[in-house]
Amino acid sequence: MTDGPLHIKKHTFQKYDILRKYLKACLTFEKKYQNFAYIDTHGGSGKVVFEGHEVHGSPLIAAESEAHPQCYAIEIDVGRRLLLRKATTGVPNIEVIGGDCNRKIASLLKQIDDRKFAFCFVDPDGLVYTDGATKVFQLNWTTIEEISRRRNSEILVNLRTQDVIRCVGAMEAEPERADKLAEDITTLYGTDSWTLKRTRYQLRDLFLDRLESLGFTHVGALNVKSEDNSHQYYLIYGSHHSVGAKIMSSNFRISWGFNPITELPLQRFVYDDIPHSQTTAQQAFQKTLSPEKLADWCDSLCFFSCSARSSQVG
Ligand SMILES: C[S@@+](CC[C@H](N)C(=O)[O-])C[C@H]1O[C@@H](n2cnc3c(N)ncnc32)[C@H](O)[C@@H]1O
Repeated sequence: MTDGPLHIKKHTFQKYDILRKYLKACLTFEKKYQNFAYIDTHGGSGKVVFEGHEVHGSPLIAAESEAHPQCYAIEIDVGRRLLLRKATTGVPNIEVIGGDCNRKIASLLKQIDDRKFAFCFVDPDGLVYTDGATKVFQLNWTTIEEISRRRNSEILVNLRTQDVIRCVGAMEAEPERADKLAEDITTLYGTDSWTLKRTRYQLRDLFLDRLESLGFTHVGALNVKSEDNSHQYYLIYGSHHSVGAKIMSSNFRISWGFNPITELPLQRFVYDDIPHSQTTAQQAFQKTLSPEKLADWCDSLCFFSCSARSSQVG
């Protein structure tokens, strides 16, 4: 059990902004599906703290959005759950559920009318949650599978590839713990093919591939950075519908801040930096270019940095 509310950094507002804009657009779904449901699998403390000030966390942002969806927030931690309940007291369209989201998701989805659209925000803050001696996986691939089975469902996942890379580092540093640590990553991806991946770009693409393998027809990724321009995590989107993908792709593009030269495919839109290996290759190429060609190359650089599947060589 933890004390006190979650503290956030400035880049978290990017996540909240994307969520807010998307939920606003969900008024359309509300009209079509006669209301829709919002699920926050990792609910948090309801209100969160930024530089000493309390602001609304994701469950409150959703409950108070224009479409007023019926909201469900699952939280495993007893202390945060108490704060979440307190913060949502008197908010009629939100239900707080205690426990492990990986165990709760199937019954929760069954409880929601099939005709309703279900938007699931999956926002872990690590690979495992520990409360004393108990270790629980924060996000199990089976949870994503469960969500994908419902055609009227979409997900927005906080994919923490840096945690995966750190975990791989710990496996190398402590070989006696390697099997246990490997299980933490395999549980997230639902496969052990991550062992062949070395960069965050590859880990990002593996997750997108995995979503497609579940039947999500539209997937996307946004690199969320901190103020000093360093990568923090990916927001990953999966949907069965082009309308939602169009809205989310546009939200990702605005958040990323660069316009790709050509429209990214809605089937897979990735807003990210150029992988280092690709940059190096491009720098070598740059040396051989005339100034005119260099200007053309700079234009295409913007395209590359926004382009889908940009990590194929990464
Ligand atoms: C990043 S925080 C969530 C923040 C929240 N979505 C927001 O933006 O206000 C992650 C939360 O997930 C909770 N958590 C971790 N593992 C969980 C699990 N298996 N089931 C449910 N909650 C979990 C943690 O206790 C923590 O409060």
